[in-house]
Amino acid sequence: MNGDPQRDPVPDQAVAADERLLEAHERALRGRGDRGDRHRPLAIGASLIALALFSGVYLERYTGHFSPLIFDENAKPLKGELVFKIDPVVLGQRYYGAECVACHRSQGEGSPGIYPPLAGSEWVNGPPGRVIRIVVYGLRGKVRVEGNDFSASTMPVYGRILNSGHNWSDRKIAAVLTYIRQEWGNKADPISEDDVAAVRKAVGNRDAMSEDELELVK
Ligand code: HEC
Repeated sequence: MNGDPQRDPVPDQAVAADERLLEAHERALRGRGDRGDRHRPLAIGASLIALALFSGVYLERYTGHFSPLIFDENAKPLKGELVFKIDPVVLGQRYYGAECVACHRSQGEGSPGIYPPLAGSEWVNGPPGRVIRIVVYGLRGKVRVEGNDFSASTMPVYGRILNSGHNWSDRKIAAVLTYIRQEWGNKADPISEDDVAAVRKAVGNRDAMSEDELELVK
């Protein structure tokens, strides 16, 4: 800018005024920013306090004081206490996943030549007395399942008290049996705790079942 009014119609004064205006704007904007910054720590502090309060209430209400024993599906209700019934299929699925799945596999398909399938099995879907005996007492020797013979291995004992690593309650056995009778397309009736107890009472304590013996059970 050379100050020549002919070539430059904007007088220096006006330019100076513009610059002052710009500076004033910048100051105003900075001022607003400063005020925001001053409030920010307060807002963060308040959020943290709110979060701490919420967490405290949540943990107190829902963690059962971190006791590992707080969930016990076999707990006997105290007098007058509400009883929540757990779906035996849900319970049975859990037991299946912890134990039977190792051999009979996740889709109940078993392992060709070694572990027979449970999906579609005539033993699983047959008379309750047979499948209860298989799980309570175990099974050995040859067994024919869906047209294939299996004899390479033995089915472990789950219910017998003597000479067995397993000692499952009637309830646990009923749940796992109800589950395998309703999963993978199987459609047999549920099996109750009383059904299992009745078999144990009638049969007593004995060694593993054989296919021939099971076929006599109607
Ligand atoms: C260590 C492997 C193993 C485990 C674990 C196991 N089984 Fe078996 N199961 C077998 C074998 C092997 C046979 C066949 C036994 C024979 O050949 O006589 C069998 C047979 C069966 C049968 C009769 C045949 C059929 O396919 O329908 C049923 C029912 C059965 N098991 C259910 C179960 C359930 C329920 C569990 C869990 C509580 C379980 N098994 C855990 C190995 C196992």
